[in-house]
Amino acid sequence: MSVAEAGTKDRPSSVPTALIDELRTIVGDGGWTSDPLDLEPYLRDWVGYAEGATPIMVMPRDTGEVAAVVKACAADGVPIVPQGGNTGSVAGAIPHGEVLLSLRRMNCIREIDAADYTITVDAGVVLAEVQAAAAERDRFFPLSIGSEGSCTIGGTVSTNAGGTAVLRYGNMRDLVLGLEVVLPDGRIWDGLRRLRKDNTGYALKHLFMGAEGTLGVVTGAVLRLFPRPVEVSTAFVAIRDLDASIELLSHLRTATGDALSSLEVMPRIGVDIALEFDPEVIDPLSTQHDWYAIIEVSGTKADGQTGASLEAALAETMEKGIVVDATIAASEAQVKAIWRIRKALVLNLSKAGAEIKHDVAVPVSKQPDFIRRATAAVERTVPGTRSVAYGHFGDGNVHFNLCAPRGMDATAFSERASDLHRAVYDIAAEYGGSFAAEHGIGIVKLAEMERYRSPVEIDLMRRFKAILDPSGLFNPGKVLPP
Ligand code: MLT
Ligand code: ZN
Repeated sequence: MSVAEAGTKDRPSSVPTALIDELRTIVGDGGWTSDPLDLEPYLRDWVGYAEGATPIMVMPRDTGEVAAVVKACAADGVPIVPQGGNTGSVAGAIPHGEVLLSLRRMNCIREIDAADYTITVDAGVVLAEVQAAAAERDRFFPLSIGSEGSCTIGGTVSTNAGGTAVLRYGNMRDLVLGLEVVLPDGRIWDGLRRLRKDNTGYALKHLFMGAEGTLGVVTGAVLRLFPRPVEVSTAFVAIRDLDASIELLSHLRTATGDALSSLEVMPRIGVDIALEFDPEVIDPLSTQHDWYAIIEVSGTKADGQTGASLEAALAETMEKGIVVDATIAASEAQVKAIWRIRKALVLNLSKAGAEIKHDVAVPVSKQPDFIRRATAAVERTVPGTRSVAYGHFGDGNVHFNLCAPRGMDATAFSERASDLHRAVYDIAAEYGGSFAAEHGIGIVKLAEMERYRSPVEIDLMRRFKAILDPSGLFNPGKVLPP
């Protein structure tokens, strides 16, 4: 969906004044705002898909207050939009006249149990704080995404966030042991179990993960922790061609004893964009190549083996002609410099020209074919479109993002978004792929839900929604096509 198309009109607010007063009383002073200036950052998403509106943002401090807010709204039939760090990429947490329920003030780490390898947290705890708290107890929480300094656990659960370490540790769905959820009728489901095995009927927690707040408000979570990697080795390599990315993945997983924790691939145009718009970015290799990979290998033993195995594995890939040039970071500063290229590409792509995003998943081995075909298809659709295909190749997630042809007006490019989406997603579908790998649906991909998910799937989703939220009060207009 283009920015122009996605910018939805706000539904008129019909929240009774008496309810507003009740909500203020529930959350108390400092727990709400209706000031347009205060609200401004919570009403627009960072991609620029939507500008929203709300009569009030409430910021409860605990699960009881969330439940009271939900009950009060349910009694008056008033809809609610939950929001964590507002870092999503599909405008799924932007209200359009509903009550905005921010989980930010629920930011307590409830418990860390190093022996159980678990951490139990409020939904509003920022991801980086979970990572730091785990590290303090010599444990590791592996979810790693660009917004980790501001996204919240509730948001990452509700969107089933992915990122750069999914290859090794899975996505958020794989990292959650238990959940606490406030249901649309105000009841609290306490599913905060920290069990690795629990076959007691339907796995309810999975319904709420990836549901983007349409079935319940996640208020707490028990997360899995892992042994803390003490040796991390990072390399920036040029690969022979796109097909070499899959050979590289296969070789590295075996040669490092499956210690590969990230494999990110990016094209030369991505490095060029990073260099052009971020003066701190340095090109790590002296000659230019069409495709690059960032490789991270990590181990929990401080015996020098992690770095040694990466060096040996890279030497083998060079002998085989998979890798054509490489540099291994020799200091923390060099590690940061390598990852900065990746970050700068994402943050600056839209400065190089209007951007149209595609968060696609295909089977890992199909990524090169998908990229070649999708590149040709968008070129046919809008000649001159610059394809910037990068992403988490270790798990099959290609960010097939597009940059407007040089000299093309941004609005004119945005107006072609539906055609470009169709071209890209149809090809992904041919490979059994997904049009929403890790960013979710929000309001941005409703048309694709209709086109690519089967009637049976949509019917089942609607039925779950109707059981849990019969009045349609939780995050209306998101995830499910109208
Ligand atoms: C990333 O992997 O950095 C993001 O998911 C890319 C994006 O926002 O398109
Ligand atoms: Zn990503």
